[in-house]
Amino acid sequence: MAEPLLQVENLYTQFRRADDTVYAVNGVSFSVDPGEVVGIVGESGSGKSVSMMSLLGLVRGNAVVKVDRARFKTYDLKKLGSHALEDIRGREIGVVFQDPMTSLNPVMRVGDQVMEAMMAHHYATPKAAFQRTLDLFHEVGIPEVVNRFRNYPHEFSGGMRQRIMIAIAVACEPELLIADEPTTALDVTVQMQILALLQELKERRNMSIMMITHDFGVATNFCDRIMVMYAGQIVESATVQDFIARPAHPYSLGLKASILEMGSRNRELVPVPGLPPVVTRPPTRCSFAERCTFAIDRCREELPALRMLESGHLVACHRSEEVISRAG
Ligand SMILES: Nc1ncnc2c1ncn2[C@@H]1O[C@H](COP(=O)(O)OP(=O)(O)OP(=O)(O)O)[C@@H](O)[C@H]1O
Ligand code: SF4
Ligand SMILES: [Mg+2]
Repeated sequence: MAEPLLQVENLYTQFRRADDTVYAVNGVSFSVDPGEVVGIVGESGSGKSVSMMSLLGLVRGNAVVKVDRARFKTYDLKKLGSHALEDIRGREIGVVFQDPMTSLNPVMRVGDQVMEAMMAHHYATPKAAFQRTLDLFHEVGIPEVVNRFRNYPHEFSGGMRQRIMIAIAVACEPELLIADEPTTALDVTVQMQILALLQELKERRNMSIMMITHDFGVATNFCDRIMVMYAGQIVESATVQDFIARPAHPYSLGLKASILEMGSRNRELVPVPGLPPVVTRPPTRCSFAERCTFAIDRCREELPALRMLESGHLVACHRSEEVISRAG
């Protein structure tokens, strides 16, 4: 089997605040294979963005990041300084940030921003970068490329800005694209166009994609594998087929039930009543226990470890066997 493109073991991120500490990411481990599309789903605040941003050296605020292993290709991300990390980010790992308006420079013409992404990484000379920017605009479906090159971000619609973000992220032909909610806030038609575009780019370049999304329909239609996060932990990871056929975590079971009930498109991920916790202590018990209809005393005493049910299917739940039999 090919080596994973990205391998992460035991990632922790904490934010120190004046009165307490937020335990945003609590021992996350995963890997991504070349050409694989992984969907990361989970409710708001479950640690999806912070996990990815921690790996890329982009967490803001008073953050402490620890990780046992963070290997991308032959690079040890843990040991890289901020300049080297910045160089990999953008050149070999493309990132589409959650909010395009905060990541595009409002006073710089968009064409220049795409060109700059290439030139900053010495990927192309100014002349080649100009031509390649026009080609990229064409590739991501921006019409009238020469005129549009000179526009500023506010002159574009939300969907067009998202396409520009994707153009910047893939400008240097990265092997991994991390896309944080690339289709949220777009109407369904534009959403489908963006997903088709990502699919095409993935196939043409054998690019791996990690896609963070609230939309379970997008995750199941677009991804090979789904990772579910809850309270800063991965609670289930499975191929889309296994996930639909044999969800093994009660939260995933709720997701499946809500899809059957309401259809798969544009479903917000609140399938189980209650709110996710803000974790201000290191977890020592199952964080989902308050909302879980399967909870037993053990769940309130012992943190369930992520364990393998079968090849490629991982779950963190003391009662996953019962959950699977309920799903069937
Ligand atoms: N700079 C920060 N300072 C303090 N807490 C933070 C900071 N950034 C994130 N957090 C907290 O870390 C936790 C995880 O946040 P994160 O942004 O990863 O959530 P998310 O899963 O991406 O949610 P969403 O779906 O809303 O984007 C949340 O409780 C959040 O409030
Ligand atoms: S460990 Fe217990 S509380 Fe947590 S999800 Fe499983 S059954 Fe529910
Ligand atoms: Mg987020």
